[in-house]
Amino acid sequence: MINRKNRVEEIYGSTFPVILGPMAGVTDLAFRLLCREQGCDVTVTEMISAKALYYGNKNTIPLLLTDEREAPVGVQIFGSEPELMGEMAHKIEDRGFAFIDINMGCPVPKIVNNHEGSALMKQPELAGRIVREVKKAVSLPVTVKFRLGFDEEHRNAVEFAKTLEESGADALTVHGRTREQYYSGKADWDAIRQVKEVVSVPVIANGDVYSGADALAIREHTGCDGIMVARGSKGNPWIFREIRAALRGEPQPPEPTARERVDMLLRHAALCVEYKGEYTGIREMRKHAAWYTMGLRGSSRLRQEVNQVTTLAQLEDLLREYYPED
Ligand SMILES: Cc1cc2nc3c(=O)[nH]c(=O)nc-3n(C[C@H](O)[C@H](O)[C@H](O)COP(=O)(O)O)c2cc1C
Repeated sequence: MINRKNRVEEIYGSTFPVILGPMAGVTDLAFRLLCREQGCDVTVTEMISAKALYYGNKNTIPLLLTDEREAPVGVQIFGSEPELMGEMAHKIEDRGFAFIDINMGCPVPKIVNNHEGSALMKQPELAGRIVREVKKAVSLPVTVKFRLGFDEEHRNAVEFAKTLEESGADALTVHGRTREQYYSGKADWDAIRQVKEVVSVPVIANGDVYSGADALAIREHTGCDGIMVARGSKGNPWIFREIRAALRGEPQPPEPTARERVDMLLRHAALCVEYKGEYTGIREMRKHAAWYTMGLRGSSRLRQEVNQVTTLAQLEDLLREYYPED
């Protein structure tokens, strides 16, 4: 037990890490920094294709962007060719990352049809070879994120976890759904517990944590070594201060006010523009703006207007017009 706690801390920098789950198109550096400020312990990059890295795809390089303020951050790669995965992991391991995470859970057809992401759960032997090659190629810890299985008839998370551990994986993150479920239904925390019971490497529990109370419940239910939160953070980096308070047994912090939401959204937009330029940054902020303002007065009309905005100044004027007194 003491050993495992040490191991968790060696990999993630805390004894019970609360991790921001990777979300392609959402968890870029700008957003990750804001989550860190609110008490998130560890972040992970959006998933990055090993093949795209190999070909030097220009859309892939920005995904590797990190900053010492967000450390520890893991880099997540995906692919199906063991040697290439090892080679690419080696290529990027010196860019300030704390660990290499391998994606074996992505359900998207484009990925699955290439035998990548969750398709690897149908090929445990290949999945094990990938872990071994990546381990051989890097000195950083190697972690794997996967699901309960490909579909209801093939729920093999327990066997799969053992294979990954035997192949050298240093920690595992389990999302309590099958590939077939995508993001629907309820995450099965019992199944995460079953994985936790059969491996000795740290297990991070993932799926349906939307509050401090959920964080306490998933910890209790699964006996996990850490928690990963993805969708619950959209437009809501404050979820991390809420979870932190809950885990420490402290009173729940107040809900963010409309003013705080608008201010956070504008800071997020400024960072996004800094890293991606105004053209791309503001377009990417449109979805975030909808999430931050959800439930606020006039939010559905605001959403339509945000979609016409093309500069940071326009976004700021629009928000101040909607929420002048907040
Ligand atoms: C829009 C979106 C993008 C995602 N992208 C990734 C990804 O790049 N890599 C990954 O491992 N999981 C990805 N996921 C899955 C999440 O990391 C997480 O496993 C899943 O959403 C369940 O956790 P939650 O209930 O806290 O959202 C993505 C999920 C969403 C909704």
